[in-house]
Amino acid sequence: MTKFLSRRYKDLSPYAPGPHPKDREYIKLNQNESPYPPSPAVKKALSGKLADSLCMYEDPFCMELREAIAKVNHLAPDQIFVGNGSDEVLAFLFQAFFDEEQGVAFTDITYDFYQCYCRTFNVDYELIPLKEDFSYDLDAFKHTEKSILLANPNALTGMRISLEEIEELLKSSSDRLVIIDEAYVDFDNPSCLPLLNKYPNLIVLQTFSKSRCLAAGRIGFAAASKEIIDDMRALKFSFSPFNLSALSIAAGTAAALDTDYVKQCTAKTIAVRDMFINGLKRLGFCCLESHANFVFAMHPCISGEELWHDLKEAGILTRWYNEPRIKEYLRISIGTEEDMQQVLKVFTEILKKKGLC
Ligand SMILES: Cc1ncc(COP(=O)(O)O)c(C=O)c1O
Repeated sequence: MTKFLSRRYKDLSPYAPGPHPKDREYIKLNQNESPYPPSPAVKKALSGKLADSLCMYEDPFCMELREAIAKVNHLAPDQIFVGNGSDEVLAFLFQAFFDEEQGVAFTDITYDFYQCYCRTFNVDYELIPLKEDFSYDLDAFKHTEKSILLANPNALTGMRISLEEIEELLKSSSDRLVIIDEAYVDFDNPSCLPLLNKYPNLIVLQTFSKSRCLAAGRIGFAAASKEIIDDMRALKFSFSPFNLSALSIAAGTAAALDTDYVKQCTAKTIAVRDMFINGLKRLGFCCLESHANFVFAMHPCISGEELWHDLKEAGILTRWYNEPRIKEYLRISIGTEEDMQQVLKVFTEILKKKGLC
């Protein structure tokens, strides 16, 4: 850090994204991306006249994209805020609604970025531990006075809570914001979006990076009451009015409207995930129940770090977290069927070498 960096950032500890090594070809299963290309409608939207229009500023209200998202989710465009990935939407949420006094509670094992934002924006936070079996301790959330941020399904574990449980939480926390991060909702989970018109304290966050196959397109959105969205827009127009590029808006609009393609891709991922989990179990792995496009698994006889390392040597990237409760686990994104058969083959070889199968 230079002497010029503002003192308010002296304690920064930046988020560490999954690496993108270039030393060889890898099967990349470390960032929960889609292994399938974006919808053909996206390719069409990115061709033609779009390049010529890049000389002009894009609509800072991003109406085309917000209308498309609103249409497919039966909401009004003024209930939608779009950002450069849901990471940026989260950054706007943290800045708009949380500070040293109005803090936020989230679980000890979840998306790393939540803690990172608290440190960046100097937000008070409370970590509520997941239960021993990694399920949510919702009673503990009912007793906190802070706003609530839950990933459902949870990032890292893939486990979920029901809409009934979320409604209970919304009722018992009506004076606080409840943000539900639905990054993985499309992998066959019920969404909280239909609850929005009933609970003015609810904010739902979604991304185009997973089920909509557009991780590099950087598109995410928050859906909430018009008043909450107005607050977020006021902040955006005080900071970065043109936060979404014309390319992202065009790609996102086409992807949002092609709901059949999302269904096709997620159905494939779910089928491959279930095949993969069965294969892992046959090899003696313990897998948490997954409702997402990844699996959180451990082998009782080999450490998480060793498995992560051996897979990397075999050209397969996964995610290992050197953190006390989860260091024996690996998070493995679900790729194509061929990718996952290759992972099972490599695991079988590792276990054979150790005389474990
Ligand atoms: C739970 C959760 N929320 C938000 C994000 C951010 O997604 P993006 O910024 O790509 O939209 C991720 C990314 O992996 C995630 O796992």
